[in-house]
Amino acid sequence: MATCSSSSFISPSSFNNDPTQLPKTLQKGLLLPIRRSNIPLLHIHSNSHLRKQFQSKCSNGYPLNAVHFQDDLSPTNEPVKNISKDGTVPSTEAEAEAKETTISITVVGASGDLAKKKIFPALFALFYEDCLPQHFTVFGYARSKLTDEELRNMISSTLTCRIDKRENCSHKMVQFLQRCFYHSGQYSSEDNFLELDRKLKEKEAGRLPNRLFYLSIPPNIFVDAVRCASYCASSATGWTRVIVEKPFGRDSESSGELTRCLKQYLTEDQIFRIDHYLGKELVENLSVLRFSNLVFEPLWSRQYIRNVQLIFSEDFGVEGRGGYFDSYGIIRDIMQNHLLQILALFAMETPVSLDAEDVRNEKVKVLRSMRTLQLDDVVVGQYKGHTKGSKTYPSYTDDPTVPNHSLTATFAAAALFIDNARWDGVPFLMKAGKALHNRRAEIRVQFRHVPGNLYKGKFGMDMDEATNELVIRVQPDEAIYLTINNKIPGLGMRLDRSNLNLLHKARYPREIPDAYERLLLDAMAGERRLFIRSDELDAAWALFTPLLKELEEKKIAPELYPYGSRGPVGEHYLAAKYNVRWGDLTSDDS
Ligand code: BG6
Repeated sequence: MATCSSSSFISPSSFNNDPTQLPKTLQKGLLLPIRRSNIPLLHIHSNSHLRKQFQSKCSNGYPLNAVHFQDDLSPTNEPVKNISKDGTVPSTEAEAEAKETTISITVVGASGDLAKKKIFPALFALFYEDCLPQHFTVFGYARSKLTDEELRNMISSTLTCRIDKRENCSHKMVQFLQRCFYHSGQYSSEDNFLELDRKLKEKEAGRLPNRLFYLSIPPNIFVDAVRCASYCASSATGWTRVIVEKPFGRDSESSGELTRCLKQYLTEDQIFRIDHYLGKELVENLSVLRFSNLVFEPLWSRQYIRNVQLIFSEDFGVEGRGGYFDSYGIIRDIMQNHLLQILALFAMETPVSLDAEDVRNEKVKVLRSMRTLQLDDVVVGQYKGHTKGSKTYPSYTDDPTVPNHSLTATFAAAALFIDNARWDGVPFLMKAGKALHNRRAEIRVQFRHVPGNLYKGKFGMDMDEATNELVIRVQPDEAIYLTINNKIPGLGMRLDRSNLNLLHKARYPREIPDAYERLLLDAMAGERRLFIRSDELDAAWALFTPLLKELEEKKIAPELYPYGSRGPVGEHYLAAKYNVRWGDLTSDDS
C-alpha cells in the first residue's frame, strides 16, 4: 500500500479545521472558508459580510423579510448580489480575500449515471446563476481512462438538462467546461489520490484550498475512497467535506458499521449525507407553510388532522438499475429515507431556530418517538408484465439483472404512528412504487370532520368526502392546494368541493432549481440543515430494520400488480384498517 508524503498526510484529528469545530461564539461571525491560524480573529470578524455574499443563496441565506411579495420575482429583485466574476480588480478588502480562496469539487464516480444526469448539471446551473465562488475547479474521478477533453464531451451533453434555452448558455458552458478536469484512478488507491492531490494543488495555484468530494459510487467502496481522499487529497489548510449518497447501509447494523468506518477518517461535521428529497422546493417550503402561517400551525396536530399520506409513484420500472435495486427494494430505496425525512419535517415540533442542529434535533425526536413498524401494517407488491394495445411492458423479474424468483418489493404501503402528545393515534400512511400509472410525489393531509356541521345534510352519507384536505405536491407541477366546501353560485343551496390552488408555475414563472443545486450549494457553504445527521440515520433504521428482516426471513411474497396500474389492492385494505381512504385515488387530480 502506498504511503502518503508527510506534507499531504492529514490525520483524522487534524481534520478539525472546520468552523463548526470552534466554540459557538466564535462561529457566529466567522468567515468561510476559515482562515489560516496566524490571522487574528478580529480580522476575521471584520470580514464576515463576505461570507454572507458567498452564502447568499444557500438554504438559510435569506432573511425572511427579504422575500418580495410582488409579481415580478425576477433575479434583479434579489436582495444580495453574489461575488463578481468578471475578473475586475476587487473593490474591497473582503473581495480581495475571496480571491485568495478556492474550492475544488471532486466528483468521485464521474462516469456514473448520477454524476452525468444530476451532479455536473447542478454544478453548471450554479455556475450559470453565479452561485459558485470566483475560484473553483471541478474534477471528475473514475476508473475509466478519459482525457479532460473526453470528460468535457461526456458531460456537455447533459449540462443542458435544466438551462438549455437561456441567454448566454453556450458561452457559459464553454467557461464552465474549461474549469472541468479529469483524473483516472482506482477508488482504493492512495497513490492515485496522491496524483489527484498534485493536480488539485496545481489548479489551486497557492490559494487557500477548500475541498469537496462528492461520492457518487457504490456503497461497498465508500470507505476506501474516503480513506484515500482523507489521507492523500484533503486540504491541508482549508476545509474538506464529503458528500455521501445513499444507500447508507441496508439495516441498523450495516449502517452503524458504515458510520463507524467513515468516522475513522472524517468527523461528523465533514460528512454530508445527502437525501435529495430534502433539497426539493416544496419539501423546503413545508416548514415555511406551517411555521409562518397562522392558519396552519394551530391545526397541525391530532386534534384536527385525521391522517397524513406520503405518496411516491413512478411510471417506469427499474430499467437498468435492477442490480442495485434488487438488493435494496422500494422500502430502503424510497421509504426509509425520502418519505421518512419528509414525515419527520412535517411532524416535528417548532425548532428553536433554523440552525441545522436545532432542526435536526427536532427531526430526530420525531423519529425516535415512532412505533417500530409491524408486518401487518405493511403491504408489499411487485410489478408484473402487461400488454396494452401494441405495447408490452416487462415484469420486474424480466430485467436481466434481477434473479427470476426475486421477492424484492417494487411497491410498498405502510401505516406508521408517532407515539407523542401531538400525533398520538394519527395514521401516517406511506406508499411508494415503481411502474405505476403516474409519476408523482405528494403529501396529503386529511382534516377531521367539522363538529356539528350545519351542512351535513348536503353531503350525503359520506362525511369523509366533505373534510378538508391540504395537498403539497412535491412533483411534478409543484403546487399547494386546499380542498374546501363551497356553495355553487345560484339560487338554492348546492355545495361543491373546490380547491384553493397555488400552482407554482403560475405564480412564480422562474424555473425551480434542481434539488442537487440547493444541496451542493449548502455543502459548499457548510450549511448542514438539509443533510442527515448520524443519529437521524440510526433512528430511521431502527424503525425499519425489524420489518425488513421479517420480510426477508419469512420470504413474504409480494402481491403482483400490472405495470402501469395503480398498485396492489392490498394498499386499500391497509388504509381501510385505519379508516383512511387514499387521497390520490379519489381526488379529481389523480
Ligand atoms: C432515488 C432512488 O433516490 O430517487 C430512485 O434511488 C428514484 O429509485 C429517485 O427513482 C427518484 O428521484 P426523483 O428526484 O426523480 O423523484
